[in-house]
Amino acid sequence: MMTFYPDIKLVHVAAAMTSGTLFALRALGLLAGMRWPRAALVRYTSYTIDTVLLTGAMMLLTILPSGMFANGWLATKIAFLFAYIGLGIVAFRPAWTPGKRAILVAGAALCFLQVYGIARAHDPWGWLLWLAR
Ligand code: HEM
Repeated sequence: MMTFYPDIKLVHVAAAMTSGTLFALRALGLLAGMRWPRAALVRYTSYTIDTVLLTGAMMLLTILPSGMFANGWLATKIAFLFAYIGLGIVAFRPAWTPGKRAILVAGAALCFLQVYGIARAHDPWGWLLWLAR
């Protein structure tokens, strides 16, 4: 299974970047008052990308030795991932004023960036670690 590690990681990272880009485009569209971000085709495309992302994540989790996660980076990454998903879901609710929606979208985007930073650094501090250097 380790033979496929680079390919699985590539698929996982590509799906993560596509997922984040689609979220950003949908959020910007919604902030601009457009209706396409809530269209069924767009939503199902987003679910499909996220399924690929999570499948790759589970495969990486199975392949890699558990010692690799000993400093808690993966657990912290998942905590920020839940915050990103939660803020993203709430931001897409119809009730918000544009200002409140923008704050929720910005919060979700910051959580996504931290998920990425933690994954790259293999450290729970993510980007904060790199800023402190
Ligand atoms: C928005 C969601 C996610 C993003 C943006 C993301 C991003 C990334 C990135 C950029 C890497 C490559 C790190 C490197 O270069 O070494 C990576 C690797 C990895 N991710 Fe994710 N990921 C996400 C979700 C998840 C989830 C939900 C899990 C597990 C439940 C997960 C588990 C892993 C594992 C185990 C690795 C392998 C680390 C390595 O090989 O060094 N990821 N992720």
